[in-house]
Amino acid sequence: MQETWVAENSPTGTNPTITLRSFEKVSNPKSIHGIYPYRGKMSAIDAAHVISQLSSTDNLLDPFCGTGTIVYEAQARGMKAIGVDNNPIACAVARGKTEPVYVDATIHHLESAVEEAQNSKSYPSMPTGPACYFHPDTANQIMSMLHVSEDFSAFETSVLYGSICVAARACNGWIWTSTSVGRLNPPLRQVDFYKILMRKARKHIVYVRGRPQAAIHQYDTRRIFDVIPPKSIDVVYSSPPYFDALDYTGYYTKIVLEVLGVDRGTVRDGLIQRYSTYRDDMMKAMKAIDRVVKEDAIIIFVVGDRMVHRKLIRGSEFFTKIAPWGEPYTVERSYTNTPSKMWDKINNTQRKEQVIVWDLGRSR
Ligand SMILES: C[S@@+](CC[C@H](N)C(=O)[O-])C[C@H]1O[C@@H](n2cnc3c(N)ncnc32)[C@H](O)[C@@H]1O
Repeated sequence: MQETWVAENSPTGTNPTITLRSFEKVSNPKSIHGIYPYRGKMSAIDAAHVISQLSSTDNLLDPFCGTGTIVYEAQARGMKAIGVDNNPIACAVARGKTEPVYVDATIHHLESAVEEAQNSKSYPSMPTGPACYFHPDTANQIMSMLHVSEDFSAFETSVLYGSICVAARACNGWIWTSTSVGRLNPPLRQVDFYKILMRKARKHIVYVRGRPQAAIHQYDTRRIFDVIPPKSIDVVYSSPPYFDALDYTGYYTKIVLEVLGVDRGTVRDGLIQRYSTYRDDMMKAMKAIDRVVKEDAIIIFVVGDRMVHRKLIRGSEFFTKIAPWGEPYTVERSYTNTPSKMWDKINNTQRKEQVIVWDLGRSR
């Protein structure tokens, strides 16, 4: 459970334009955001709370949108939202959450696809790498579904990817935790992939129509000006890649990429996730973002404190130093009764999540 939100170091003479508060819980796995277990996925409840304080007429950009948590919540508020991420799995899921969907037609289409997959006699075998995670019968069901998925909508594709993750966990006895994903727990159990897929589709589908359509670009944010017009963005709201070089092609996404036969190394090469170049990469990305924001834009980054080579680095200080936007204000949340608290005790640290806000209209 989280403790308090505290606004600190506002530039003298300014009132914070964004305030934050504590919540009893930060996630709702039954919502559309539970469709895929992405590494680094942020709390949709936090995102919705911040977005509720913005103007619904603003153009919002999330330049590291991952699976589109912020983009979806902004779109739900009626904002024109744009997401950019260079990870194809993240972009597929972000599109799946934000593209219009019709419940009955989608469920019917997926049921027909399951029937076609069940009757399919020829489909490729699962590559040997990921096959170790699945019972052979489940692996065959996955490959038969992939085989009939060419005409899938973005929502259906997201359900398919999310179901591969659920099936991997189920075949391994449901005992994976966030730190043991990918650990083999024989004997592998046989689970019905078709049932997992239909259950997932029904659980996460929401009827979305009549909202401004969000745009998701699969692109490198260090060159975001290629895909976003100059000075067009009112609000940037994002949780950038973590500076302890978290691998966004790892975790469940490793299994999905391998099942799809996509080269993980190539995807990883397009992402900011090497500690040695992190600072330069983020500076490049921030300079590129600077070209697409309006003069009076608000830029909100969600960051955290991290232990790097046994040294505690405060996210807010790090980003304040390298950003081209002057003095921000920071809002900070500490944790109690969470695993983070336990790590703090072991490492003798005080890990905090921080939200940094640059209000360019005031600070430039
Ligand atoms: C902390 S995650 C964002 C998670 C997201 N808020 C969500 O809820 O799913 C950071 C994201 O930055 C992306 N990323 C890293 N380097 C990138 C780059 N050069 N260009 C675009 N996106 C990048 C990663 O793929 C990852 O999805």
